[in-house]
Amino acid sequence: MKKITALIIAFVMIISLAGCGAGNGSEPAGEATSDADGSGVTQAGGSDGTQPAGTEGKKILTVYFSSANTAAVDAVSSATPSVKNMGSTEYIAVYINSKVGGDIAKITPVKDYPESYNGTLDAAKAERDGDERPEFRNLDVSPEDYDVIFVGYPMWWYTLPMIMYTFFDTYDFSGKTIIPFNTHEGSGDGGTYNEIREFEPDATVYDGLAVRGGSAEKSDEDIDKWLAGLGY
Ligand SMILES: Cc1cc2nc3c(=O)[nH]c(=O)nc-3n(C[C@H](O)[C@H](O)[C@H](O)COP(=O)(O)O)c2cc1C
Repeated sequence: MKKITALIIAFVMIISLAGCGAGNGSEPAGEATSDADGSGVTQAGGSDGTQPAGTEGKKILTVYFSSANTAAVDAVSSATPSVKNMGSTEYIAVYINSKVGGDIAKITPVKDYPESYNGTLDAAKAERDGDERPEFRNLDVSPEDYDVIFVGYPMWWYTLPMIMYTFFDTYDFSGKTIIPFNTHEGSGDGGTYNEIREFEPDATVYDGLAVRGGSAEKSDEDIDKWLAGLGY
C-alpha cells in the first residue's frame, strides 16, 4: 500500500513538473479545481447545474471503471467496502449504489492492464496518445434501459480513461440523466463532465463529484451531502 501511495505521489509530482506537457491541453494536476475545505472532495462547477426533478420510479444504474477491475476482487459483494480491497472509484461506486439503490455494474477491460503502476501509466498513455478505444467485457446490464446513470471513473492522464470513451461511444443516453463522479490525485474532474456533455448531447449531464483517491474512504459524508443536493 505504501508503495502504491509513493507511486501516486511520484506520479502527481511528475505531472506537476511536466505542466501541460502531457498533450491534450487539459490542466496539470493540482490546478484544475478548488478544494476549499481541504477534504479532498470537489464539487466541480459545470454548465448544467440543475437538480433532478424527482427520483421516484426511476431506474437507477451505477456503472464504473476502476483499476481494481483488473484484480480478482468481488468488491460489490464485499460485506464491508474498503479501499484496501478495491480501487478508489470502485469504493465510491459501491457507496453510491448502497445509498441510491438500483443496479451496479463494472466496466472490465478485455485486455488487462499491466500489474505494475508504471506499466499501467505507460499503457494508458499509449492508449490516449493513439486515441484508442479499448474494448470492455459485456456488462451484466443494458445501461440504456436505465433512466439515471451514475458513471464513475478515475482520471487518467488528465482525462477519462480511453475505455470510458468506448463506453460512451457504445451507448446512446439520449433522454437519460447522467451523473458523473470521479477520483483523481490533483486534476479534479479535469473538464471531463463537460466532455461527457459533448459525448451525450441529448442527455442531461449533472455536475459531478470529484474525490481524491487517497481520501475515498473518508468521503462518505461528502458523498451523502452531494447526493442529498441531487435529491437522493
Ligand atoms: C494511468 C494513470 C493515469 C493517471 N492520471 C492522473 C491524472 O492525470 N490526474 C490525476 O489527478 N490523477 C491521475 N492518476 C491517479 C488516479 O486518478 C487516482 O489514483 C485514482 O483515484 C485511481 O482510481 P482507482 O483506484 O479507482 O483506479 C492516474 C493514475 C493512473 C493509473
